[in-house]
Amino acid sequence: MTTATDTIRPNRPRGASLRVYLPWTDSAGRFSPLVLVVFLALLTPAVLLAFDAAIGNLGPRPWNIAIHRVGWWTVVFLLASLAVTPLRRTLRWNSLIGVRRMIGVAAFVAAAFHLVLYAGEQAWDLLKVSSEIVLRIYLAIGLAALLSLGALAATSTDAMVRRLGGKRWQFLHRLTYPVAVLALIHFFMQIKADITQPILFSGLFVWLMAYRLWRNRLSDPGTGGLVALAIAAALLTATGETAGIAWTYHAPMWTIIQAHFDTAIGIRPAWWVLGAGLAVAAASAFRRQPRRALA
Ligand code: HEM
Repeated sequence: MTTATDTIRPNRPRGASLRVYLPWTDSAGRFSPLVLVVFLALLTPAVLLAFDAAIGNLGPRPWNIAIHRVGWWTVVFLLASLAVTPLRRTLRWNSLIGVRRMIGVAAFVAAAFHLVLYAGEQAWDLLKVSSEIVLRIYLAIGLAALLSLGALAATSTDAMVRRLGGKRWQFLHRLTYPVAVLALIHFFMQIKADITQPILFSGLFVWLMAYRLWRNRLSDPGTGGLVALAIAAALLTATGETAGIAWTYHAPMWTIIQAHFDTAIGIRPAWWVLGAGLAVAAASAFRRQPRRALA
């Protein structure tokens, strides 16, 4: 389990206090290529969106397209922040912890921007925005997720970690899990037809939570455990998609199960989840090899 002290680094060089917040320095204020690459990756969707908006490439409903794009990226950032600890442990890549805060804050900024875009779509009529949030449950759920993310971002500074104390900080920051659940519910509820994307993200979320559960309740899953987790998450994803489609469209279950093996309709989310889980297992096995065997 990641602790609050993983997040702050007390032994900083003098004068590093502000430098640690630069998007290319690590928690000791030194230049870090990893931090810079992650920062640029987090910035890229915003740059592409600004570019498409500037050249009029967002179609006839530019606000709505922008809302969808930014909402999608918010979920990606949220899951990426949840992936830091499992990847750090399975790949034995300790410095990954140094980018978790940045990814979490990016998720909050994206979610806030998503709300601003929604206000823009409603012609900045804040009364209408408020009444829609009250009337439409999926918007209220989105707002609850956004406010919780705001609380997490506000308490993510080193000063707040120290002020709250390790245990309370950790307890508060476990809010990320229900926030991700709310975000996925919001994603499902606003979908009009194709549930492929939210199913895929839910499957990845299941893997991330199952990994935590295994590690906290049992021990380090090891390569065999990671393969078992990948298969279990993929099976749950396939079951979720099958049940969801059968329920929504009253389609026969067997046809949907068969569709999982029909590449003509695209690779179903369960296969992506299996691929991602097995990739982590393979990378972890490689990292676990003794150094002598690698030489
Ligand atoms: C953490 C908070 C939030 C997350 C993660 C989130 C995520 C998403 C996602 C993933 C989508 C669909 C994107 C796609 O189709 O690819 C979406 C759509 C949308 N979201 Fe959010 N959202 C959040 C908060 C909010 C809030 C606070 C509002 C407004 C009050 C909002 C309003 C909308 C609207 C209007 C749509 C499009 C619905 C449509 O076109 O029918 N979201 N959101």
